[in-house]
Amino acid sequence: MSNNIENLSAWQRFIKKMTKANEIGKEEDIMTDHDYDGIRELDNVLPPWWLYGFYITIAISIFYYIMIFMGNYNQEKEYAESVEQGKKEVAAWIEKDKKAHPEKYTEAKAYTDAAHLAQGKKLFTEKTCFACHGADGGGGIGPNLTDNKWILGGGIKNIFNTITKGGRPGKGMVAWESSITKEERQLLASYIISLQGTTPANPKAPQGDITWTNK
Ligand code: HEC
Repeated sequence: MSNNIENLSAWQRFIKKMTKANEIGKEEDIMTDHDYDGIRELDNVLPPWWLYGFYITIAISIFYYIMIFMGNYNQEKEYAESVEQGKKEVAAWIEKDKKAHPEKYTEAKAYTDAAHLAQGKKLFTEKTCFACHGADGGGGIGPNLTDNKWILGGGIKNIFNTITKGGRPGKGMVAWESSITKEERQLLASYIISLQGTTPANPKAPQGDITWTNK
């Protein structure tokens, strides 16, 4: 019990120190002689707790001023630095990915020799391409692959990409990336290029706005 009272008085002492409130009943000591229609004014000091808060904000503002206006910190620099850092991380990731999947970073190769083209032709049947593009590439469900009009673009890069990633959504040409190896896709693309200008039995009318021919 006595302990409790001691604690309480210590707390009270602290509060008194922080507020420097004038005791009720002793107002006369600090009464000013201002009198406005009977309303009078006490000359209380600023409470220390409030003053300390004020001093802290002054200290922070000086620190802030020095950091922002005199130091070399600024937001633009911080932004540029984090962009720089991000670029480094991306580059490092690509480096790592290149080592793990080198095939993703090499351009598709176009074959022109008879042996490779024969392999491509075989794959065109084996991989069911003929079902939609015709056995001779003349077209059917899929577009004619022998004319110089392309929906998705001609040339090894585009043709390889179409076989890899597929056509426009819902058109029927799926992405073959997961079911046909890169080498086989290169052989297929090379074979398709070799079909340029050939005359299929039942050519489908040209489709697409892109004109490309290897001739
Ligand atoms: C189920 C039918 C179907 C099969 C099977 C199919 N394709 Fe296609 N292919 C299409 C359709 C439809 C398009 C047109 C896509 C579009 O309009 O976006 C197309 C487009 C293409 C194109 C782009 C033509 C252009 O004009 O840009 C190439 C190249 C192609 N296919 C190659 C192949 C190869 C190689 C295979 C076999 C691995 C294959 N396709 C299997 C239906 C098929």
